[in-house]
Amino acid sequence: MTVTVIVGTQWGDEGKGKITDLLARDMDMVVRYQGGNNAGHTVVIGKETFKLHLIPSGIFYDNVLCVIGNGVVIDPAVLITELETLHERGLKADNLRISSQAHVIFPYHRKIDAAQEKKREAGRIGTTCRGIGPCYVDKFNRRGIRIGDLYNEKLFREKLEWNLEEKGFQLREFYGEKITFDIEAIMEEYLGYAHNIRKYVVWDCSGLIGEAIEKKKDILLEGAQGTMLDVDHGTYPFVTSSNPIAGGACTGAGVGPKNIDDVLGVVKAYVTRVGSGPFPTEIEGKLGDELREKGGEYGATTGRPRRCGWFDAVVMKHAARVNSLTQLAITKLDVLDDMPKIKVCVAYKDKKGNLVKNFPGTLEYLAECQPVYEEYDGWMQDTTKIKDYKDLPANAKKYLDKLSELAGVRIYMVSIGAERGQIIKL
Ligand code: GDP
Ligand code: IMO
Ligand code: MG
Repeated sequence: MTVTVIVGTQWGDEGKGKITDLLARDMDMVVRYQGGNNAGHTVVIGKETFKLHLIPSGIFYDNVLCVIGNGVVIDPAVLITELETLHERGLKADNLRISSQAHVIFPYHRKIDAAQEKKREAGRIGTTCRGIGPCYVDKFNRRGIRIGDLYNEKLFREKLEWNLEEKGFQLREFYGEKITFDIEAIMEEYLGYAHNIRKYVVWDCSGLIGEAIEKKKDILLEGAQGTMLDVDHGTYPFVTSSNPIAGGACTGAGVGPKNIDDVLGVVKAYVTRVGSGPFPTEIEGKLGDELREKGGEYGATTGRPRRCGWFDAVVMKHAARVNSLTQLAITKLDVLDDMPKIKVCVAYKDKKGNLVKNFPGTLEYLAECQPVYEEYDGWMQDTTKIKDYKDLPANAKKYLDKLSELAGVRIYMVSIGAERGQIIKL
């Protein structure tokens, strides 16, 4: 009866995979609405850990239809490997559906991604080099090849020819790469992928989702990345090339805004970021390293160490506003269990001494801002086995209340461990 968007409120890796899996049990449908295999969503069930990049995190329930929406960019080789991994572990994944309107990542997208990063040198974004940005560029430049195109060989060849000519020129002449593309080899490879995933493809995906809404089904729209990586509302240009925010769920699934009932913001109890770009509350040195080790903060996709920092209420309020958050899922509270003092950034101060409560609109102004911290006593107690909110240590409750108050949004659940069962519902 409800349509809920699950959105990351920071720079990604907030625990969206865990929360989506948890809520999926009571859902009819889970739709991934943007991003591609730059995402890594971890689901821990008992002793088993699954890392999903493209397949929605509801896939562990046979009765939940899991849809890769039109807003996602798909590297078919990665999708097929992911499916095979699930099959090997005993999951059929027959409940998967793929929008024919989702765009396809080709080898030239990955090459351009890497070549751009190389050329940028110091200004490097630190992308995942999965070809995500270049694929979205082609989509918006109306050059893209969609999943559906792979089933029309003549059209596919025409589109691919143009792209190979253009991208070959760009890579050789501008980026100085010694590269030629073999159209026949790429055609053969991708027609093979198309054959392999044929049974999952739906030609009217927004219609499929719309029908479920009409039938009053329960639907989750699962975002990837996070608000601060949003191409419009994040720390541009140190962002990804899509709209992870709740509005992106409308375009990326083909659902009108009036159909969305709830927007659940996933919030890590501290903050992390992978790749370059501003991070006002970053903790440098030993304490940051300790937090990374305790939280296992290494990228689920690239394995890169994540930068760690204190909770940032300016970022939180920004996320609450641009997503219209209705509820919060706070994750990884347990990682702070043995932290004697915990800082919370409640505002920024600019170089003239003005208090800044809204996230700065330019990186230049952001660079002039310093976080203003309040310090809280930690709880120094294991929270990983707690089932009821009332049993949480008093200082942990105080910390959570503060986060909720700063966000102006109520807390729906608190996660105190990676495993499915480690959750406290309020
Ligand atoms: P996502 O991209 O937002 O889905 O997040 P990731 O899966 O990339 O990163 C979150 C990491 O934290 C994963 O390793 C999860 O298994 C883990 N995790 C999620 N929730 C919790 C939690 O409450 N406590 C702890 N300790 N780990 C968690
Ligand atoms: P999930 O869904 C964290 C970051 C990259 C880089 C920037 C642009 O697991 O939260 P891209 O390859 O997208 O062009 O890289 O975005 N990034 C993520 N960081 N979690 C993610 O996904 C990310 N997806 C992309 O590190 O800084
Ligand atoms: Mg992740």
